[in-house]
Amino acid sequence: MRATVLVALALLGFAAGVSYDGYKVYKVVPKTEIENVYLNSLASSADFDFWSTINKVGNPVTVMASPKVQRMFEDYLKTNNLEYNVEIENVESTIEAERQYHRSKEALKSGRISFDQYLRHDQINAYLDQLAKDYPDTVTLESFGQSYEKRQMNLVRISSGSSSSKPVIFVDAGIHAREWIAPATALYLINQLVENPANSDLIRDVDWIILPCLNPDGYEYSWNSDRLWRKTVSPGSLCNGCDANRNFDFHWMEAGASSWECSETYAGKQAFSEVEARHLRDYLAKTANIKAYLTLHSYGQYLLYPWGYGNVLPDNWRELDDLGHQVDNAIRAVSGTRYTIGSSTQVLYAAAGASDDWAMGGAGIDIVYTIELPGGGVYGFDLPASRIQGVVVETFEGFKVYADYVAKNRKIDN
Ligand code: ARG
Ligand code: ZN
Repeated sequence: MRATVLVALALLGFAAGVSYDGYKVYKVVPKTEIENVYLNSLASSADFDFWSTINKVGNPVTVMASPKVQRMFEDYLKTNNLEYNVEIENVESTIEAERQYHRSKEALKSGRISFDQYLRHDQINAYLDQLAKDYPDTVTLESFGQSYEKRQMNLVRISSGSSSSKPVIFVDAGIHAREWIAPATALYLINQLVENPANSDLIRDVDWIILPCLNPDGYEYSWNSDRLWRKTVSPGSLCNGCDANRNFDFHWMEAGASSWECSETYAGKQAFSEVEARHLRDYLAKTANIKAYLTLHSYGQYLLYPWGYGNVLPDNWRELDDLGHQVDNAIRAVSGTRYTIGSSTQVLYAAAGASDDWAMGGAGIDIVYTIELPGGGVYGFDLPASRIQGVVVETFEGFKVYADYVAKNRKIDN
């Protein structure tokens, strides 16, 4: 029965959804260099998906393993006495729970927003359209360009007007398809800045430009076919998609990126092979007064500043570190969520060609952070919709700190 349906769907041209039935997620603590080398050797296998990267000995690594390799993997862990536990027993169950939940929700009216569910890309667009209509004095809708599959990507400029120029904070989200909490957080930021008069302070001395979904093709693919899709969807010969966050032309391919098409961190045939990355490059180049660049990801609770290509720090790293701590304090005050602050390379791993390094090295913006929002634990990337509200509300407190800092320290001389 099921097979017939699948064949029928395939004939109709539907991509059969990827199932993660029986996939487990392990948290493993490597205690020697050799164990790290072993873990690294698994990273190129399609049966393992590393949800956190292998870095220093002693740091836990989160990895999803297919049913086929679990026996072998657990044998290795036991024989070598690695400390580990199973974080997710069956990845498909968490994904299915999320699907059920969204099916049970009443469809949002076009142009409406809600933070008890994740939104499809067309719903995101409809909301931005509606805002531009309802708040013509504050919201300007701009075309960012089209995605590879010709989805229209829009961003909003939120500005309280007045003739003098103000510093701009640019925020994007969703460069990685599966990190659904990131677009949700960008939408909440938009919603609060525009629709909540209590936040009028936040748009008095700065303008905001917010792009809620930088990789809409991948995002929709993660809804329709493969919940854990990370890359773009541009076709390859063996595997599709490129990690857009390895595709920027700044120390491209120097570290933490792969030239192998099937890798989750495939950097592309060449730098800026991906149209979405080119749009970001062009937008940052043509837009005046952008003083801060914030890019939203999940998960891990990190506030990362450059450089990500290697173990060097920007001149103003102390400023970035201090500001990061202020942001962390503000978020923590809400309900105790803690972030780790540092340069990408120092606290995570070196990974070149990311949008943050480009914003600083290519576009010359000096307040730059990758924000790794919460997730993980028993959910991984699949943070249940019931938890959106908590994350977006606490993160908003962090945005307030950025706004205040940029307003005071990056004034534009008019
Ligand atoms: N998780 C993000 C990624 O892997 C972190 C990027 C941090 N920035 C960097 N330049 N490495 O893309
Ligand atoms: Zn990411």
